[in-house]
Amino acid sequence: VDDRVTIHVRAGGAAQDYTVWIETEAAERLPTLVRRFAPAHRFAVISDANVAELYGSSIVDRFSGAATLHVFGAGEASKSRTTWIRLTDELLDAGHGRDSTIVALGGGVTGDLAGFVAATYMRGVPVVQVPTTTLAMVDAAVGGKTGVNAVVGKNLVGAFHPPSAVVVDPAFTKTLAPTVRAEGAVEALKHGAIADATYFRAVATHAGAIRSGDIGATRDMVVTSVRIKAKVVSEDERESGLRAVLNFGHTIGHAIERVDGYAGSHGRAVALGMVLEARVGELLGRTAPGTSDELRDALDRLRIPLSARLDAGALIEAMRSDKKGRRSEPRFVLLDRIGEVRSGDGWTHSVPNDIVARAIETGF
Ligand SMILES: NC(=O)c1ccc[n+]([C@@H]2O[C@H](COP(=O)([O-])OP(=O)(O)OC[C@H]3O[C@@H](n4cnc5c(N)ncnc54)[C@H](O)[C@@H]3O)[C@@H](O)[C@H]2O)c1
Ligand SMILES: [Zn+2]
Repeated sequence: VDDRVTIHVRAGGAAQDYTVWIETEAAERLPTLVRRFAPAHRFAVISDANVAELYGSSIVDRFSGAATLHVFGAGEASKSRTTWIRLTDELLDAGHGRDSTIVALGGGVTGDLAGFVAATYMRGVPVVQVPTTTLAMVDAAVGGKTGVNAVVGKNLVGAFHPPSAVVVDPAFTKTLAPTVRAEGAVEALKHGAIADATYFRAVATHAGAIRSGDIGATRDMVVTSVRIKAKVVSEDERESGLRAVLNFGHTIGHAIERVDGYAGSHGRAVALGMVLEARVGELLGRTAPGTSDELRDALDRLRIPLSARLDAGALIEAMRSDKKGRRSEPRFVLLDRIGEVRSGDGWTHSVPNDIVARAIETGF
């Protein structure tokens, strides 16, 4: 299939800018694409055990002897300094030097971890991100944030390390469970909600196809989401302002994840967070009435379970103390309506606790 689309991302100077290459079956000529954007003598492919089992050897074989495969246990718990030590030692043992390129083949965990290995190995070697989950394709692989978790919180040790390229093959999603595809698409709905109402409605319309792994529908979604995320991060690579709009749904969403001890899915937490944050905006009279219902309908189509018993007090406490227990003022992205956030008075806002509590108590 020749359906390739390339999207340019600005990352602080021409030398750091990169291309997101989206093409069905791109994985079949991955070595050509990787060499084109990050030419190297040798390549280190980093994957978790699930992805390595499904795709590792066929991908490494295509590099005809120039690549080594480095595998870690699947799951968020592996996004740690312990795994970083093991992987960097393995790369040293395998003789990789400054002239090697790292290929991050996997979901968001692999992208963050392998990206951080690349950011630090020999003071930084190139990385090509090859996302294999819906979430990583529409969100995590683009933006240049890499890192690992610490005991007290997620993503606390990391670096900005823009990839040399992101190569997206939507066909990787064939082997994902429908629920996992749908949870990734929640971030796509978020992109629509903050930037493009037509896109928001398109994701809702194609929710069934996206869940069931339709490659065309998935590819169209990835193209538009990457365009939106690329535009936002290109305008604001260091999260000084505009980039904060990507946190829509995440202020309450992250609190839900923390209160759950990170046992639940990120996509579902963000789904609940988007509905509730839209409700906050409605209660303040800033967000058009009906916006939270529109979000709920779209999420229903993805079959994200939205009924939840939420403890407003615990969530507000989780929002008000940061990962190290310091007090902080939670900031909210408030939509004007689906597809629109205005910045007249800043991209984020602080909101009185009683409004947040009311939104959570009456949200579901
Ligand atoms: N850097 C960023 O900007 C950014 C943005 C969003 C999320 N993230 C991070 O992304 C992580 C979550 O990413 P995720 O949801 O992709 O998790 P993940 O990488 O753990 O992947 C989820 C599961 O799917 C499996 N898997 C991956 N690809 C597969 C495939 N094609 N077929 C079958 N199984 C496959 C994995 O082995 C894993 O078990 C979090 O750590 C989060 O902090 C980072
Ligand atoms: Zn998210």
